[in-house]
Amino acid sequence: MSEAITLPPHRSTGQVGADPKSFPLDRIDVSDYELFTSDELWGYFERLRKEDPVHYCPESDFGPYWAVTRFDDIVYVEKHPELFCSEEGIVVFDPPPGAVLQNAGFITMDGPRHTAHRKVVQPVSSPRNLKKLEPVVRKHVIEILDSLPVGETFDWVDRVSVELTTNMLATMFDFEWENRRKLTYWSDMTTAGPDQLADMGKTPRDRQEALLECLDVFTKLWHERKDTQTESLDFVTALASANATQDLDPVTYLGTIMLLIVGGNDTTRNSISGGVLALNQNPEQYEKLRNDPSLIPTMVDEIIRWQTPLAHMRRTATQDTELCGKQIKKGDKIVMWYVSANRDESAIPNAEQFLIDREDSKHHLSFGWGVHFCMGSRIAEMQLRVLWEEIMRRFRFVEVVGEPVRTKSCFVKGYLELPVRVHPW
Ligand code: HEM
Repeated sequence: MSEAITLPPHRSTGQVGADPKSFPLDRIDVSDYELFTSDELWGYFERLRKEDPVHYCPESDFGPYWAVTRFDDIVYVEKHPELFCSEEGIVVFDPPPGAVLQNAGFITMDGPRHTAHRKVVQPVSSPRNLKKLEPVVRKHVIEILDSLPVGETFDWVDRVSVELTTNMLATMFDFEWENRRKLTYWSDMTTAGPDQLADMGKTPRDRQEALLECLDVFTKLWHERKDTQTESLDFVTALASANATQDLDPVTYLGTIMLLIVGGNDTTRNSISGGVLALNQNPEQYEKLRNDPSLIPTMVDEIIRWQTPLAHMRRTATQDTELCGKQIKKGDKIVMWYVSANRDESAIPNAEQFLIDREDSKHHLSFGWGVHFCMGSRIAEMQLRVLWEEIMRRFRFVEVVGEPVRTKSCFVKGYLELPVRVHPW
């Protein structure tokens, strides 16, 4: 646990700027983050879905892996945790043994242990608790939107997306308000790929230190809250007082805390930014929304599908098996590309279009499927719904006025910056 993580260096694959239709099929590697920063991923995924939906990539920054790109094949993998387990890791990248990042709480567990741990924190996202949370979220949203500088260009990611998700996290952890940006910092340090970490001016050792600081702070909170009899439903109290999680070792505790921080942070944040961008790129949809704000709940689903804030999840084959006619060997990495499945025309009609009044709008894979289906989906949807309700009350147009800066990651699909101007009614 004390060892600093050495992340693999990035090597260029030559895919950016090339023609996905003629690029050698056997050299396609969709884990190359440059495809994501340049937004040139789509042609490669379309090609794989058509020509090689379960595609073997022998060499990548993260070693060999299988890319599963169609909706139905991903659902098959998710439905068979006995064949494709989570214990060996849930992203394409393997942290070295013993690194803090290796244990990501119950998302990296299988079977009854996973079920027991998940059950402990699940009530935080129950409809009953959401009802309590909604007015708190609305208050934060109103404060944030009312403080925006009308008539000036500003960064939507920092002023709205990060601020709102940070406030929400602080609420769900009942975390010290003044220090709430620490939660965002720890989350960013956890998910940053090697190059992004360098861009932040940080080293793998800084990352390790940040995670240990996080563990220290949350261990103190654990001790403060473990014997409290309280009605309040925050994640730490839930973990500290339930039988299944009372005696967590520090690494699993940190993994669980990080899962809850990262789960609720990057994902919702990038849906908030992605929605603004999608509406700007599809002005007729924005007009539809202005004419009928009752479309907001459906639009929220569509934004989450369109953005697919987590581009993939990974499983590991527990035995030799077959997938879509391909021979999978025990121990092989199986990467489920939700970002591709969400554009799979054979599962989603007009998948290439952003439609805020889409029928069957919940039919997407952004939250995964099956036993690991996102535990915070309803929290995220509520947050986005409330945000858009309040945006539409104030602003006729949130105008994107410059190029977005995208994350250097093939896992967290999102934005580091999005310059905007807001136009009141
Ligand atoms: C738009 C926002 C979100 C997206 C796109 C998202 C996406 C995902 C995905 C893809 C998974 C894995 C599913 C699978 O393997 O089948 C997941 C799991 C999870 N998410 Fe989310 N998430 C979001 C918001 C949240 C929020 C707000 C929280 C709560 C704080 C949260 C907590 C979790 C947890 C705890 C898991 C692990 C579930 C398990 O292993 O049983 N997520 N999420």
